Amino acid sequence: MKNNYLKNKVALVSGSSMGIGKAIAWDLLQQGAEVILNGRDDEKLERTKNEFLANGFNVYSVIADIRDQDECKFLVDQAIGVYGQLDILVNNAGMSSRGSIEHSADTNFTILSETNFTGAAHLSKYAIPYLKETKGHVIFINSVAGLRGMPFNSAYSASKMAQAALSEALRIELYDFGIHVGIAFVGFTQNDPYKKILDVDGSLVYLPKRNNLRLATAESVARSIRKMIEKRKKRITLTGLGYLANFTFRYLPVFSTWLLWLNREKIRNQYTMIGGVKQDEIAQVSNRYQKIVAGAEAEV
Ligand SMILES: NC(=O)c1ccc[n+]([C@@H]2O[C@H](COP(=O)([O-])OP(=O)(O)OC[C@H]3O[C@@H](n4cnc5c(N)ncnc54)[C@H](OP(=O)(O)O)[C@@H]3O)[C@@H](O)[C@H]2O)c1
Repeated sequence: MKNNYLKNKVALVSGSSMGIGKAIAWDLLQQGAEVILNGRDDEKLERTKNEFLANGFNVYSVIADIRDQDECKFLVDQAIGVYGQLDILVNNAGMSSRGSIEHSADTNFTILSETNFTGAAHLSKYAIPYLKETKGHVIFINSVAGLRGMPFNSAYSASKMAQAALSEALRIELYDFGIHVGIAFVGFTQNDPYKKILDVDGSLVYLPKRNNLRLATAESVARSIRKMIEKRKKRITLTGLGYLANFTFRYLPVFSTWLLWLNREKIRNQYTMIGGVKQDEIAQVSNRYQKIVAGAEAEV
């Protein structure tokens, strides 16, 4: 039901060309917000934009790779240039991976921390001056894997834990400015058919449809995020597995470590043996990182 809180608010949703980000954008649009879509793949972003336009919603889209600090600034500048204000930043763009630390491609750690941690940090940094004016919201779409270190998914888990730490610090830093900082620890969610993750060797792989778990839908996650914004909630955990994990990790840490140890083979299989169609492409680290490497090489 509409309550007008979101009417004419301006929301920037990173990584909103598909999946949960797209569902959040759609939900906010239906509540009367203006939404800026974002992603790296122009075709995918254009498809989503056209889908929304065809449904009568006027959206603006910006191609930007949030792993690059300059592109984060560009993304926020574009939002301000078009709408003149920013009320909500949803740090949704994210990437996942699978595999043991020993066998993971070196680039996997860089790509995941640049996407899930520093990308969200830079976007937030550039958005803060504008959010101060609107007493707005910074939202982080985190994961149950961001509640504690998860075996065979360590790069993802560590990058999401770093993002959670960022949100805790930010909440206190922004308290006196009336900015709401919210974090959502999301459990397993039905994935978009185009969802790709980083395989252990650094290649990109389309995640097969999950069918052995009780899954949330992207739409139900989006509704929870909207309610978190409207009620200025600090922290939410989603899905039954999410509640269980949150409770045991928080209140029974020794027991939860024992459970993970006992189920290590199962977890390894869940993360690493689920197959998926390889994309003919090795993921690249971001431009900024490449520039640093190129600069260092030039100096030698
Ligand atoms: N699905 C789950 O089960 C689940 C569970 C817990 C938490 N989450 C979290 O929820 C968020 C969304 O997940 P999802 O499953 O919806 O992901 P998804 O289907 O893979 O979609 C990711 C979105 O982010 C964009 N993106 C990725 N890297 C980007 C970058 N460097 N710069 C700009 N955009 C980028 C993608 O578009 P391009 O590829 O074109 O850039 C796409 O629009 C993530 O933060 C994820 O960690 C998901």
